[in-house]
Amino acid sequence: MPEPKHLTERVALGEQSYDVTVGEDVLGKVAEAADALAVANKRCAVLTDSNVGRWYAGQVTEALEAAGFAPTVVTVPAGEASKELSVAGEVCRKLIRAGLDRGSFLVALGGGVIGDLGGFVAAIFYRGIPFVQLPTTIVSQVDSSVGGKTGVNAPEGKNLIGAFHQPRAVIADVATLSTLPEREYREGFAEVIKHAAIRDSSMFPAITRAASDRGGLVELIERNVAIKARIVEEDAHETSGVRALLNFGHTVGHAIESAAGYGELLHGEAIALGIRAALQLSEEVEALDPSATATVCKALDQFALPRHLASQISTAQIMAKLMTDKKFVSGKIRFVLLRALGDALVSEQVTHDSIEKAIGALRA
Ligand SMILES: NC(=O)c1ccc[n+]([C@@H]2O[C@H](COP(=O)([O-])OP(=O)(O)OC[C@H]3O[C@@H](n4cnc5c(N)ncnc54)[C@H](O)[C@@H]3O)[C@@H](O)[C@H]2O)c1
Ligand SMILES: [Zn+2]
Repeated sequence: MPEPKHLTERVALGEQSYDVTVGEDVLGKVAEAADALAVANKRCAVLTDSNVGRWYAGQVTEALEAAGFAPTVVTVPAGEASKELSVAGEVCRKLIRAGLDRGSFLVALGGGVIGDLGGFVAAIFYRGIPFVQLPTTIVSQVDSSVGGKTGVNAPEGKNLIGAFHQPRAVIADVATLSTLPEREYREGFAEVIKHAAIRDSSMFPAITRAASDRGGLVELIERNVAIKARIVEEDAHETSGVRALLNFGHTVGHAIESAAGYGELLHGEAIALGIRAALQLSEEVEALDPSATATVCKALDQFALPRHLASQISTAQIMAKLMTDKKFVSGKIRFVLLRALGDALVSEQVTHDSIEKAIGALRA
């Protein structure tokens, strides 16, 4: 058989460096990645969810078994509710009962929920075992599988309990996207458009093509991995501020997501609205050229991402959510803006009033 088409991007983090392989029909490469871990025993776990496991757990366990590994499949219910401390605890206990120990490893097969939960389990199980990510959504392939942020949600807020734990390899198989529901496919492009807006405006034509033709997905996803990888390399633990640029569209977006009630709007749909608001603020504060706004908005429209805020979500509710997770210091907040397409900055010139106005504009 010919070698499946794939591209590899290195995430250079010293001893914690790893390769991200993006390709078509590459799930079987999990066996090579597992071999390269050179772990002490052959026991491993494949953590997946009830949707993804049904389609792909068989392929992954077969490849691992053929390479001499003894995988145990652990399946959690699909959905954000599985990103929970008690679920992480239960998964750990299942691994113990299946005979895994500090010489074992974990494979996270699924979207961002499984990547975040699986990475967290790998970070705490026996004080840390290696893990491999097999991301199966656009969001997880272009964003969450790279960077080592793992964790679970608390009732008090999302992602509040977690650890930095880098994967030892990431294998993003675009063929798995064929079973991803259309709405989840489209929402993932909010993050792709975000990457293009903050770092690589030359990506817009390829994004436009992906709206109607999935032929170029391997290259497009690899370009996004490269953007995320370069930012993570510069600021692995989110201390220098560069990684904060990835929050473009997320200050208002998260507030909308949370004001709407989690589950109402998908993350990417809320972020699309947040990006639209951030563009308006960029025009106001950084004199962003309106043609740049038009380019980004057109891309969001091509993936049918929301243009307007539903009337039942009040601006006051959104502002209240925003104030609970972001601090205004003397009326100002750290806000990611664009100077130009591909050129983002963290600004402290955005006021409470101008954010309110930008949210109001989403209703027009
Ligand atoms: N760690 C990070 O840096 C980071 C970055 C961004 C997002 N996240 C997290 O990622 C999560 C969201 O990830 P997501 O959007 O991938 O959601 P998800 O993992 O919930 O997947 C979305 C839905 O699609 C299903 N699915 C996934 N892949 C499929 C496939 N190939 N075929 C059929 N169905 C499939 C899932 O079962 C689920 O129902 C959030 O919890 C978010 O906090 C983390
Ligand atoms: Zn996001």
